[in-house]
Amino acid sequence: MAIKKVGVVGCGLMGAGIAQVTAEAGYPVVIREVEQAFLDRGLGMIEKNWARAVEKGKLTAEARAKAAANLRGTLSLEDLRDCDLVIEAIIENIEEKKKLFAALDRICPPETILASNTSSLTVIEMAMATGRPDRVCGLHFFNPVPVMKLVEVVRTVRTSEGTFRTAYEFARSVGKEPVAAKDNSGFIVNLLLVPYLLDAIRAVEAGVASVEDIDKGMKLGCGHPMGPLTLLDFVGLDTTSYIANIMFEEYREKRYAPPPLLRKMVQAGFFGKKSGRGFYDYSGPEPKVADLGL
Ligand code: CAA
Repeated sequence: MAIKKVGVVGCGLMGAGIAQVTAEAGYPVVIREVEQAFLDRGLGMIEKNWARAVEKGKLTAEARAKAAANLRGTLSLEDLRDCDLVIEAIIENIEEKKKLFAALDRICPPETILASNTSSLTVIEMAMATGRPDRVCGLHFFNPVPVMKLVEVVRTVRTSEGTFRTAYEFARSVGKEPVAAKDNSGFIVNLLLVPYLLDAIRAVEAGVASVEDIDKGMKLGCGHPMGPLTLLDFVGLDTTSYIANIMFEEYREKRYAPPPLLRKMVQAGFFGKKSGRGFYDYSGPEPKVADLGL
């Protein structure tokens, strides 16, 4: 099946990134948010990325204008009715996602493929909220979407071969490297990444080393672009906590259990970079290790 028009639901960090790369690849994209302020913020992020890319000579002014013309924001889900593929990137909450998939199932033609950008929920639950489980799959992008090359293409037990192939080729067509994953919570990357990030928090709790040295250790010792505590601040401590809870519910294994320090930081409103404070304090010109009260 050929994808001609793409819908994205949710104009947060992930939704905006997905809409950006899809519009750049030449697809008409409609992105939907629930509130004008959220839509403006997401579209503003995309504009800023394009402006920076033009400044750096990575994108021509003409290509930017073409991409911008491909992108349209809306507050109405009905505006996604003529999309061939809709990618959901809303809050990581199964009830909200099921409601959205049921609504998309009513609005979109039966051939439309519905995909979720979930990072930890199983896709089958969303698929079964629709009358077309064979046309539902996962398309899991990574943050920051314009930079990270990977997309996990997730096939449930009900996903048809045609849907999987179309989604896989779509990921390629927007310049990403797809990998095939089964519908297990966390797929490939988060299955391995989440316990690692949680172990880094446990290492802080146990006083194994300082926050800076744990980060330095993994950057210089393993060649990671960011240490785990910087990465936690980048992903968001609230998001990590959500994901870990979902994975813990699914597997009931200690390695997915959010450590007490993570819970306390989230309760305190220290969500990482986006809130100005997490393992580091971002209020100054350079991030500084925050007082964790340990
Ligand atoms: N949007 C667009 N472009 C961005 C960007 C953003 N948010 N952040 C950085 N960039 C671009 C920069 O403009 C720069 O581009 P040029 O090379 O053209 O100049 C390039 O990326 C490198 O950026 P910087 O020089 O500023 O910084 P850096 O070299 O440290 O790279 C990074 C930044 C790409 C984020 C890098 O640190 C990195 O790869 N970090 C790890 C990210 C990671 O692991 N992501 C996965 C998170 S887990 C996830 O997403 C899954 C989940 O479900 C939770």
